[in-house]
Amino acid sequence: MRIREARVDDVEKIAGIHVASWQSTYKGIISETYLSNLTIESRVKNWLWTFNNLNDFEKVFVAETEEGNIVGFSNGGRSRYHEYKHDGELYAIYLLKNYQRLGIGRMLFRSVVESLKENGCTSMMLWVLENNPAVSFYKSLGGRSIGRKTITIGGDRLVELAIGWDSL
Ligand SMILES: CC(C)(COP(=O)(O)OP(=O)(O)OC[C@H]1O[C@@H](n2cnc3c(N)ncnc32)[C@H](O)[C@@H]1OP(=O)(O)O)[C@@H](O)C(=O)NCCC(=O)NCCS
Repeated sequence: MRIREARVDDVEKIAGIHVASWQSTYKGIISETYLSNLTIESRVKNWLWTFNNLNDFEKVFVAETEEGNIVGFSNGGRSRYHEYKHDGELYAIYLLKNYQRLGIGRMLFRSVVESLKENGCTSMMLWVLENNPAVSFYKSLGGRSIGRKTITIGGDRLVELAIGWDSL
């Protein structure tokens, strides 16, 4: 497994992982209707927009097998939440279900952290749904709860936690 910076021609693969991982991760958390209506085509559009509008030091990384199959991605950059003192943000990290709990998430996480540090960031935050087992992943990597808010997805009110690392 290797982690490399993503290229714009990876968007189809990234979008496919995004949809599959949302559907497996958020089953029972986000409404079935919302999840079944997610499409790779609309995610491709979102990811193309992301690649064309990367902020100052935003990076996208992919995890790729020796055979060249992309199985996960991470994305981070400057924090978008100025109410928190943390200057970097992990925007997204998703792996296909069959590749979870093998240490790949930790590698994708570290790639974002290293890139933030290279760009002068000293801290980092992210948002995660309270019921997502990924909360334990972030806590095992030293994150701590720094805030919470209620959001609406597919008509359901859900609680998101802000997790922060005061020092990278
Ligand atoms: C969250 C995610 C990126 C973590 O990556 P991963 O490769 O599965 O995690 P790792 O194998 O690197 O785990 C590192 C440590 O985190 C902790 N951890 C990871 N997943 C966990 C889980 N589901 N429950 C409890 N602890 C967990 C463990 O301490 C683990 O170490 P261990 O396996 O030696 O016990 C991955 O599971 C994933 O893509 N999940 C679905 C999508 C998602 O929820 N993304 C986050 C959205 S905010």
